[in-house]
Amino acid sequence: MADPKCVIVRDPANGREAELPVREGTLGPAVIEVRDLPSRLGYFTYDPGFVSTASCRSAITYIDGDEGVLLYRGYPIEQLAEHSSFLETAYLLIHGELPRPAELTRFTEDIRRESLIHETLRKFFEGFHHDAHPMAMMVGVVGSLSAFYHGELDIDDPAQRYISAVRLLAKMPTIAAACYRHSVGLPFVYPRADLDYSENFLNMMFSVPSLQYGEDAQWYLDPVATRTLDLLFLLHADHEQNASTSTVRLASSTGANPYACIAAGIAALWGPAHGGANEAVLEMLQEIGRPERIPRFIARAKDRNDPFRLMGFGHRVYKNYDPRAQIIRKACHAVLERFSPADPLFELAMRLEEIALNDAYFIERRLYPNVDFYSGIIYRALNIPVNMFTVMFAIARTAGWVAHWLELKADPGQRIGRPRQLYVGAPRRDYLPPAAR
Ligand code: CMC
Repeated sequence: MADPKCVIVRDPANGREAELPVREGTLGPAVIEVRDLPSRLGYFTYDPGFVSTASCRSAITYIDGDEGVLLYRGYPIEQLAEHSSFLETAYLLIHGELPRPAELTRFTEDIRRESLIHETLRKFFEGFHHDAHPMAMMVGVVGSLSAFYHGELDIDDPAQRYISAVRLLAKMPTIAAACYRHSVGLPFVYPRADLDYSENFLNMMFSVPSLQYGEDAQWYLDPVATRTLDLLFLLHADHEQNASTSTVRLASSTGANPYACIAAGIAALWGPAHGGANEAVLEMLQEIGRPERIPRFIARAKDRNDPFRLMGFGHRVYKNYDPRAQIIRKACHAVLERFSPADPLFELAMRLEEIALNDAYFIERRLYPNVDFYSGIIYRALNIPVNMFTVMFAIARTAGWVAHWLELKADPGQRIGRPRQLYVGAPRRDYLPPAAR
């Protein structure tokens, strides 16, 4: 009699059977552990895009895509969005529990102390042309942090791992703002001890005696701006085993330098199917331009022969409204009212959403707006340039990346990530000299 917590796989070709254990998590579907499959039946599994495969055990984030549920360490995203802040949420992701007041004060202080970047690192920016994409600069500059923190770094020491995580979170806004300042030819601004995380980022981005905003206008320190930015950071902070987090984990599994691993995550995030979607949404809305043109673009999105997709729609895991998109949609109203009343792109986005949600193609495939559909509208209202949108995502997701890195490093059962393949190339053959080919 088989163990009830097993499934039996039978190979009809030879009658051999393997009992595979079923592992239960705290929430969500159980998984079949297949690690003994090759030794028992001689097969590997094949799952392109990891559609059905759990790559690790994790206690950080839980998503129920059918119900539109997202929990960070068990806490619903809606509750965190209402009551928490980005740094408190980052602490929660990293440590597993919400901080007591003294713990949050210490964590905030740790971040503040690490927010400066080495003066030599600033010189790296000089190597980039002014029109380099900020994500390209982010990949390069964050990766180059590994040159500053390598020799003395002992990633087997939990205290040093914590410092690396804090450094990454702390320096990300400074580097991101420097990318922007470099692209517009403005001097870099240092982080300020009297500003919080989001205020500091906006100050480093926009603080100039500039003709554009008026000297000392400091519109960007308006609480609506800083609170909304903090909310966007919180909502983007983690999303379990997405492409960039899996990339960070895979790179980390080799024992690579953590700063280099996060640079790998930034590179993976950049793609339009992942974090690059927020930039693509804005470009798409600008291209659509007017509500009358929406049907043409909906038709293109449905056409199998047209590579165009409705950006900001669909998700590998959510087959329901992305809960983050609902929160962001609400936040749009407050920000636009304050900074950009009657933004035609918001009206256009809401109309596009309405049309798509009533279209059989999108209904059948359960395609809903995702987190990136409305975030760009808010960034635009805050004067963040479109090519910085994915950088904003990277700042926020650093919280999740470092939490996953720390979890992986603390796991005694961790092994190097090394997928198998289904080889479909030429069978063995002999080399032919050029004249005989
Ligand atoms: N527009 C039109 N059709 C779509 C879209 C879309 N945005 N997304 C999926 N589909 C169709 C797709 O053509 C396929 O149709 P069919 O079954 O007829 O072949 C079906 O829906 C399933 O799509 P899929 O490509 O198999 O789904 P996936 O899980 O591999 O991809 C996705 C998920 C997010 C990459 C995809 O929905 C997409 O490209 N969306 C647009 C880009 C986007 O908004 N990305 C941000 C994701 S959220 C932020 C983040 O986590 O980074």
